[in-house]
Amino acid sequence: MSPFLVMLCLAVQLGVSQDKEEYLVTDFDSGGILPNAWQSFGDLANYGVQQRNASSDGKYYELVWNGATDKGYLVAQSDITFRLIPKKKLKGKSMDNVFLKMDVNCGGAPGTVVNIVLVDGPNDCCSNEVNWQYTFTKTNCGWETIEINLAEFGYAYNPSNHEKYININKVGRVKVGVDVFSGPARQIVQFDNVALVVKDSVTVKRYDENAIIADTTALKTQAKDFFVGMAVNPTRVQDPKYATVYKKEFNSITAENAMKMKSILKGMDAQGNLIYDWTQSDAIVDFAEANGMNIHGHTLIWYNSIPDFLNDFKGTDQEFELLIEKYVTAVVSRYKGKVDSWDVVNEAIDEGTSEFRKSVFYERMGADYVKKCFQYARNADKEAKLFYNDYGLMYDTDKQRGAFALVDDLMADNLIDGVGYQMHIDFNFPSKQEIQSATDLAVERKLLVHFSELDVKVNSKGKLKEFTVDKMQEQAKKVYEVVGIYNSIPKAYSYALTIWGLKDDDSWITPTYGFPDWPLLFDSDFGKKKAYSAFLQALE
Ligand code: XIL
Repeated sequence: MSPFLVMLCLAVQLGVSQDKEEYLVTDFDSGGILPNAWQSFGDLANYGVQQRNASSDGKYYELVWNGATDKGYLVAQSDITFRLIPKKKLKGKSMDNVFLKMDVNCGGAPGTVVNIVLVDGPNDCCSNEVNWQYTFTKTNCGWETIEINLAEFGYAYNPSNHEKYININKVGRVKVGVDVFSGPARQIVQFDNVALVVKDSVTVKRYDENAIIADTTALKTQAKDFFVGMAVNPTRVQDPKYATVYKKEFNSITAENAMKMKSILKGMDAQGNLIYDWTQSDAIVDFAEANGMNIHGHTLIWYNSIPDFLNDFKGTDQEFELLIEKYVTAVVSRYKGKVDSWDVVNEAIDEGTSEFRKSVFYERMGADYVKKCFQYARNADKEAKLFYNDYGLMYDTDKQRGAFALVDDLMADNLIDGVGYQMHIDFNFPSKQEIQSATDLAVERKLLVHFSELDVKVNSKGKLKEFTVDKMQEQAKKVYEVVGIYNSIPKAYSYALTIWGLKDDDSWITPTYGFPDWPLLFDSDFGKKKAYSAFLQALE
């Protein structure tokens, strides 16, 4: 055989594609390395999976199962596994330069999670595994190409595997699993064109654990295209120790509580006029004005901040609605031209569902209440940017669907300008991909993105008694990741990245959850933590 033919045969055997950088594992079209490369693991029938097979035309691979059940959680799970052939090509490469690429199709069923597991070592036994997850978020999801940096596997969702990294020289297999959570029934997930891609030109920036921060640097000056915000209260803005840091580091503020309904709306007099107390909210607005800071208004309507008289309101639903209109109008009008943006409604969608939370506003004003409130705010200040704000939008896929259905509805009437993702997160949850794809949902709609209440818990299980160096670095890595994602939002759609408090001991987390935690950028002595350094580094 001529050397040329030997080369050709070798290339075909290895499934090497035309592109020198891309090592195709399988495209399924010609049979390729199928069926030998695919192996089954686990008891598929146990999870309702009926078949795994090449599609009828043999062009891709698919998992078929029964569809959603009424269990409301995981309804199907399965693994399909293939060997990575071109091991040799990876020898000596850095994980930063190697990508796993594949086409996946959720068949129109958002909420499907594809689990991708990278395995080093040839056998099922005794090898290292790391996870990465991809969630289909688009309302009408179909074929999508996903590309994952091998180094990302180490930072993946719930790094329950003790290995942070696997040995690239030993990468042997990829397992693909599918988790199906509650939501619309679905039948099939398909895979195609699984490839390893080597991109020698890629350099990945990483958080530097030992970076020294110059004291002259400030968060707000480092962030070029968006505000860096801080949650404040009236006492702290008057405390010189706090005010100095606020002024140095931040160019936007949010009232942690002072602009909530319970702080402003005090009752109703005998004539039916609303009684307001503007002391706290004015103090915050005055501070921002005096220091040239942006003000984000939080929040006009929240089920968790309702004065008692309103909860017990004896009037008719119509009277209730009128009262809410008056309230929203009064607050927005008072701060017209001063408050740049408002969280009009906070947390309207119930956890783990796509349904409205059955709040007093919902009960009294109907399913249209959110729309009505946005309209009142719009009427009162045409220039103010109006946001829908919520938590869990990154990982609670049902809630995410519900919230974005609401957002779409508001968009249809031109009533909304942005989405606030609260970002009360953990050092290891949600995943980078979940944060990224949730952010994309707003950007795709050409809406502003606000990361509105960032804090990063390290002790949500309550096991830690003190803040360890290890946790401090893990937290910093997460902050680096979050700020990196925010910083790469196109300028037209980025607004502010707001942190929910200054010092660890100021945070609402410990009193609320009952565990000690250290979720912020400054320690209790106003010292900058590693998380602060990570924030700055991600902006470089
Ligand atoms: C919290 C404040 O931080 C606490 O001080 C207060 O007791 C309760 O509210 N989601 C929101 C914020 O939108 O307004 C909440 O703030 C935290 C959760």
